[in-house]
Amino acid sequence: MSDDVILETRGLVKEFKGFVAVAGVDLKVRRGQIHALIGPNGAGKTTCFNLLTKFLIPTRGQILFEDEDITRERPAQIARRGIVRSFQISATFPHLTVLDNVRVALQRQLGVSYHFWRSDRILGRLDERALELLDTVGLRDLADTVTVELPYGRKRALEIATTLAMDPKMMLLDEPTQGMGHEDVELVTQLIRKVAANRTVLMVEHNMNVVASIADTITVLARGAVIAEGPYAQVSRDPQVLQAYMGSEDVELQGAHA
Ligand SMILES: Nc1ncnc2c1ncn2[C@@H]1O[C@H](COP(=O)(O)OP(=O)(O)O)[C@@H](O)[C@H]1O
Ligand SMILES: [Mg+2]
Repeated sequence: MSDDVILETRGLVKEFKGFVAVAGVDLKVRRGQIHALIGPNGAGKTTCFNLLTKFLIPTRGQILFEDEDITRERPAQIARRGIVRSFQISATFPHLTVLDNVRVALQRQLGVSYHFWRSDRILGRLDERALELLDTVGLRDLADTVTVELPYGRKRALEIATTLAMDPKMMLLDEPTQGMGHEDVELVTQLIRKVAANRTVLMVEHNMNVVASIADTITVLARGAVIAEGPYAQVSRDPQVLQAYMGSEDVELQGAHA
C-alpha cells in the first residue's frame, strides 16, 4: 500500500467535562482513497469528524495535513489548504437556479468581486466552468431549475457541485446519504465515487451498503477508540467489530451481508 498519507491524527483525544468521547485516535488517510469512518451510535464518529473539520478543538493530540501540523488552525485556514467539508458550509440558495448556485460558489472561490464578476470575459469563463461542474454531477439539464424544486438527491448533487467549485484536495462528508430513499442513495454513492477519482474523501457513513461498495479503507470506532481498520471484507468479519455492533440498534452491518 502506498505510504502517501494526506491526513493523519496522532493520539487525538476529546473530552467533554471529563467524559472521553474520542480516546486517542491514530488515523491515517491515504491520498486518493475513499476512507470511511464507521461505528455504532455513540462511538465518537461525529466528534472525530468535528475535530478534523475544526468545529471542535482537541483536548490532546495532533492533526497533520500533508505533513504540516494543522491542530490549531481554524476552518477557514484548512479550507485554504484544500480541506472542504461538504453539505454544511456549502449550503445552496433555494431560490437561485442550479446554475446560479454554482456560479456563486465559483465566484466566491475565485474571490472575484461583484463588479468584476459582471465583466463579460470573466462571466463567460465562470459559466464555462459552472456548466462543466453541472455535467460532472449530472445536473446540466436542470441548470435553469430553481433549486428549491429539485428532488432531494439532486439537491445533494448540487451541493457536491458547489463543493467541487472550491477544487478541494480532500472532501469531508458527514453522512452523505442520511435520510435518503434507495434511489437517491444510489445516485449520491455513484457521485461520490466519481468525484473521488482525483481527490481524497473521508466520510462518516451509517449505511453499510454504501461503505461496502465505495470505501477503500474503513476505520471502525467504538467507545472513542479504533477497533479495526482495513477494507470492508476484512473489517466486516472482525470479531471485535461484530461484538461492537451486537446489541446496538445498528443492525445494518449484518444487513449488508444479506
Ligand atoms: N458536546 C458534547 N457534550 C457532552 N458529551 C458529548 C458531546 N458530544 C458528544 N458527546 C458524547 O460523546 C460520545 C460520542 O458522541 P458522537 O461523536 O456523537 O458519536 P457518534 O457520532 O459515533 O454517534 C457520546 O457518548 C456522546 O453522548
Ligand atoms: Mg454521529
